[in-house]
Amino acid sequence: MKPISAYARQRLNEIIDKYETLQTPIMMVLSDFQKEFGYVPLDVQEIISKRLNIPVAEIYGIVTFYSLFSLEPKGKYVIGVCLGTACYVKAAQDLVTRIEEILGVKGGETTKDGLFTLDILRCVGACALAPVMVINGEVLPMVKVADVQRIIDTYIRKEALSNGTN
Ligand code: FES
Repeated sequence: MKPISAYARQRLNEIIDKYETLQTPIMMVLSDFQKEFGYVPLDVQEIISKRLNIPVAEIYGIVTFYSLFSLEPKGKYVIGVCLGTACYVKAAQDLVTRIEEILGVKGGETTKDGLFTLDILRCVGACALAPVMVINGEVLPMVKVADVQRIIDTYIRKEALSNGTN
């Protein structure tokens, strides 16, 4: 993986400066970096480890445990499908299968053009609306397999418009 940019390194140091006097700064540092850059790669974890004197293994454990964090850059549009119990019994796995077919990626992967990431989620607290998809934080209720292509096309069109290619 490409090393982080000089800018990302500078921002990381500023983020660490901001929180290092806290008793447990790690979650704040990881969360701010994730929000700004979309992922927390290993070289970032190593810098945090040196500056905060926390073992890399511990930081890696946090990054891989919480779905909030990602080791890889995510796509511009993060499509989450909830596979919690209420969604699962309403055939949410079929939504996953359809998205995988359309985008050619598996759960946790990002399309080659960097546009979409498919995330598998656990209950997002909207069980009455099952099965749900969540795209960049927006919950889409009672999604049917037949809706999936149209939903994805909406984002492809949006992207084409913002690039002035359509
Ligand atoms: S199980 Fe999907 S929102 Fe609760």
